[in-house]
Amino acid sequence: MRGFSVVVLSAVLHYVEVAFSSPIASNATAAQLANRKRHWSIGYVVFPGWEPLDVFGPMEILYEMSIYANMTLSVIGKEVGPVSTVPPPHQMDPGGPIMDLSFLLGPTITATHTPETAPPLDFIFVPGGEGGVVLEKQNDTWVEDFIASRADEAQYLLSVCTGSAFLAKSGVLSGKKATTNKSAWDKVVGNGKNVTWVPSARWVEDGKVWTSSGVAAGLDMTYTFMKHLYGTDDIDQVMNIIEYAPHQDPHWDPFSLVWNVPGANKNGSMVGCAGPAGY
Ligand SMILES: *[C@@H]1O[C@H](CO)[C@@H](O)[C@H](O)[C@H]1NC(C)=O
Ligand SMILES: *[C@@H]1O[C@H](CO)[C@@H](O)[C@H](O)[C@H]1NC(C)=O
Ligand SMILES: *[C@@H]1O[C@H](CO)[C@@H](O)[C@H](O)[C@H]1NC(C)=O
Ligand SMILES: *[C@@H]1O[C@H](CO)[C@@H](O)[C@H](O)[C@H]1NC(C)=O
Ligand SMILES: *[C@@H]1O[C@H](CO)[C@@H](O)[C@H](O)[C@H]1NC(C)=O
Ligand SMILES: *[C@@H]1O[C@H](CO)[C@@H](O)[C@H](O)[C@H]1NC(C)=O
Repeated sequence: MRGFSVVVLSAVLHYVEVAFSSPIASNATAAQLANRKRHWSIGYVVFPGWEPLDVFGPMEILYEMSIYANMTLSVIGKEVGPVSTVPPPHQMDPGGPIMDLSFLLGPTITATHTPETAPPLDFIFVPGGEGGVVLEKQNDTWVEDFIASRADEAQYLLSVCTGSAFLAKSGVLSGKKATTNKSAWDKVVGNGKNVTWVPSARWVEDGKVWTSSGVAAGLDMTYTFMKHLYGTDDIDQVMNIIEYAPHQDPHWDPFSLVWNVPGANKNGSMVGCAGPAGY
């Protein structure tokens, strides 16, 4: 019991500390100040085989930002209930062997809504993960159908990693620039029409659509997205609370070289880079 009270007290103190230590002086624009005052309805789309950090990287930042900003979260699955990071067994090719990935760690997230019951959404986050391939093999288009049905209402559509394949298939990337998982480049860029895929980019912002490179890049995209929305005051505080130093140059992309992405910028991508493992 004592241990529990200590945890609760430290959470309260943490809240008080961050809530009152935020800088008073602000250089936020009028639009950013207005954004801080409003409520934002956030939707996360999940499917069996979602990539953990694609969801929880941005979620960590949003979670801490919800100290300062009024946000609500809906997790949208094909059905409500637990959705695992383990994709179901699937065939990569017709007549080929069954790929069974049940040896992977399988934490779950609870889907609170279905495409039919989801409330109006201001931001829609779309993660990647091996499960995207499974949906494709099963000809199951529910994720891209959902995105297409909510694209007009949403103020922002954001994807991490191979999540941009769903955005491309939904049509929202037509006429736009985007990026994706550098280790799955060839597979993703075949999706969607009229998309300008950017080979060297940590993330790409094009109007209301933001797409990031693989997995951990979602943290950097979300940092910049929060800064765009609210100004720097609170998000910089959040970065110090979570002790993460975001990459702030969207052109920083050593992984475009590691994965030999065609057209990668050999000059700029490694600037300021300590060096990817083994590279
Ligand atoms: C606000 O100040 C921060 C830190 O000084 C700076 O990085 C940022 O660009 C400024 N933002 C605006 C909108 O002027
Ligand atoms: C957050 O926004 C919702 C929806 O507009 C509203 O019902 C709620 O009272 C707000 N909460 C706070 C703490 O302002
Ligand atoms: C990134 O692409 C590689 C190669 O296709 C794939 O194995 C991996 O699952 C992808 N990562 C995610 C998170 O989708
Ligand atoms: C998916 O569609 C393709 C092309 O129409 C078809 O060949 C394949 O059998 C379908 N797969 C499933 C699992 O229904
Ligand atoms: C492709 O996108 C451009 C804008 O970049 C737009 O002008 C053009 O109409 C689009 N083409 C098609 C076929 O959608
Ligand atoms: C790389 O640098 C060289 C020499 O400065 C320059 O000629 C070339 O255009 C650059 N390439 C890219 C893709 O930036």
